[in-house]
Amino acid sequence: MLAIERLTMIYETKRGRVKAVNKVDLSLGKGEILGLVGESGCGKSATLLTILGLVSYPGKVTGGRIIFRGEDLLQKTPAALRKIRGKEIAMIFQDPMTTLNPVFKVGDQIRESLQIHGLLNEQAEGGRFKGRKRKESEMDRVYQLMREVGIPSPEKRYFEYPFQFSGGMQQRAIIAIALACSAQLLLADEPTTALDVTIQAQILELLAKINRERETAMILVTHNLAMAAEFCQRIAVMYAGEIVEQGSTDEVLEKPQHPYTQGLLRSIPRIGKVKQKLEPIPGTVPDLAALDGTCPFYPRCAQARPACLEDERSLEDVGGGHWVKCALYS
Ligand SMILES: Nc1ncnc2c1ncn2[C@@H]1O[C@H](COP(=O)(O)OP(=O)(O)OP(=O)(O)O)[C@@H](O)[C@H]1O
Ligand SMILES: [Mg+2]
Repeated sequence: MLAIERLTMIYETKRGRVKAVNKVDLSLGKGEILGLVGESGCGKSATLLTILGLVSYPGKVTGGRIIFRGEDLLQKTPAALRKIRGKEIAMIFQDPMTTLNPVFKVGDQIRESLQIHGLLNEQAEGGRFKGRKRKESEMDRVYQLMREVGIPSPEKRYFEYPFQFSGGMQQRAIIAIALACSAQLLLADEPTTALDVTIQAQILELLAKINRERETAMILVTHNLAMAAEFCQRIAVMYAGEIVEQGSTDEVLEKPQHPYTQGLLRSIPRIGKVKQKLEPIPGTVPDLAALDGTCPFYPRCAQARPACLEDERSLEDVGGGHWVKCALYS
């Protein structure tokens, strides 16, 4: 349903060209959940914004293709993209308050999403409801959506403002807005980072339910590998704007191939391992404005060798749909 090929997006800054998304290849099947993991600043949000066509100055897409249901999104006009966004592809941002408008009632914001996408007309029996009747039928549909995402007493909470909702309830309202348009692809950028652990689990369970019942495909951005392991069928590991490893969750966690993925796994505590020694990855993430085409992980890599500084690396298949971009494998 989604195939991204050599997608590149840069930010023109005073420091130079920041390569936020660097020749990224990603694919996603119908109903599949892909986890996009990596350190802060590696380009995860930039990748999602590019898919949605939301890149604006100083950002610029400089290459690649985003094939969504057979068509390249990069060739679409802004108007055509606006239609696809929200109707076929929905996004959940990290911070609920950047999506909800503080001065409008939560219920009305969900209703607006239904109206924009013209779904109410289609659903109202006989085609057209006018005036008060129409509003009632719209509100019924909003109550239904609020119930579906687990907001209790929707008839009361429809009329509340975002500040009267807890963080978890705000995120549920945003998911309702995303559902209002029946998108087939949901892009979730750290949807639970701002929430405490028990609420995080509830929101993830809600997303899993939506995935099961509606077969919505999802890309879940997270810096939490454990969360990706539990929730996603496939994982893509991102480093300095590049996808360095990609494969089924089991493969990537059990047989990590890229030295960066191996380092990531050694640096997170695992439940059940009593005396595990945690090893942080030495060094820091490189400056994305100062990349020279060689492996960006080279300075931090214990397995670095001269070949890492030579040819351009490409994603190599190491078997079973498991791909890795590293000189050790090419
Ligand atoms: N508007 C901007 N102008 C210039 N550079 C930007 C801009 N937005 C992001 N960047 C840079 O692009 C790179 C990728 O940023 P991005 O927000 O995609 O990272 P991320 O992986 O989502 O990180 P986080 O986990 O912290 O959300 C970073 O180096 C960031 O500094
Ligand atoms: Mg981000």
